[in-house]
Amino acid sequence: MTEQSHSLYRGHQMHKQVWAIGGGKGGVGKSLLSSSLAFCLAKQGHSTIAIDLDLGGANLHTVLGQGPPQRCISDFLNGNTMELSSCITPTQYPHLQIIGGAKDDLKITQIDDQKITSLLQQIRNLNAQFIILDLGAGTSKFTLDFFNFAQVRIITALPEPTSIENAYRFLKASYYQQLLQHPELQSIRPLIESAMVPNHKLGILSPQQLLTEVNFQNPAVANELKRIIRDWKVSLVINQSRSQTDVDVGFSMKSVAKKYFGIDLDYLGYIEYEPNVWQSVRRMKPILAEFPNSRIATHLERIVNYLLKQARIEHTLTE
Ligand SMILES: Nc1ncnc2c1ncn2[C@@H]1O[C@H](COP(=O)(O)OP(=O)(O)OP(=O)(O)O)[C@@H](O)[C@H]1O
Ligand SMILES: [Mg+2]
Repeated sequence: MTEQSHSLYRGHQMHKQVWAIGGGKGGVGKSLLSSSLAFCLAKQGHSTIAIDLDLGGANLHTVLGQGPPQRCISDFLNGNTMELSSCITPTQYPHLQIIGGAKDDLKITQIDDQKITSLLQQIRNLNAQFIILDLGAGTSKFTLDFFNFAQVRIITALPEPTSIENAYRFLKASYYQQLLQHPELQSIRPLIESAMVPNHKLGILSPQQLLTEVNFQNPAVANELKRIIRDWKVSLVINQSRSQTDVDVGFSMKSVAKKYFGIDLDYLGYIEYEPNVWQSVRRMKPILAEFPNSRIATHLERIVNYLLKQARIEHTLTE
């Protein structure tokens, strides 16, 4: 860590922050990014817990150099323990702990809403400065709820058409999902739900059209809707970039997000394709531990320092 980034935090008692990493598609670097952000925060001295919420393919522990943890999130979700904190496992790295993912693939349909509410509540109460959520692929309600629960929501995508498409799908699903959570928007729930269904008879095709329709029907609710959209912050990381064209994909996605969703997607930057990643995965060592001076390490640290700076600004504003 640099002295400069450290000084950003000295003397500041931060609020706890939850960061979630999603992206819709499998294999786009969600676990690499989650584990690296967690590792980097811990290395800077921030107590950090990384939680593997990929119910279908838990492997965050491996990326962080741990064997399968004795206790993991399945124990909480299955009711073997009522205390999420009892599922925390230390790692060999100071300030970094993990809650391992499901041992056996868990079906989201087996987890009732009450369990999810209790999980969210207990995550909120965990004793750490930063909690990093590694989400699974897809747009299940479980994944979207955790994405929206976080204060920092990061979508990661590869600069490939399929991954970009899935990232938009994920963005759209989480966008509507969070609108449905707001009691202030209950009166327009049918409109939101119709916008979520392609070819619905009401013909609302985009979030912008939804806003236009709400404005037409009820300008007061439209103002609420605008406020909620403005407050819903999402960030983007382009992973495995190999060229300037790849880097620019992030900027194109940012302008599409503005035009289509009316949101300011915060493009945090890119992570280069790094041929050494497979070696660190094979040796079960975090990339930042194995190759601390690599370009990928620089990119990841830059992202963390930017997010820390944002967190500090937010904290100062809410003080
Ligand atoms: N920047 C990179 N350079 C080289 N290889 C990378 C990079 N990012 C990720 N990989 C490799 O791509 C593969 C997928 O990465 P990762 O497991 O982080 O994706 P994921 O989105 O978590 O996947 P899943 O949805 O299956 O959990 C891994 O083998 C990882 O080592
Ligand atoms: Mg993963």
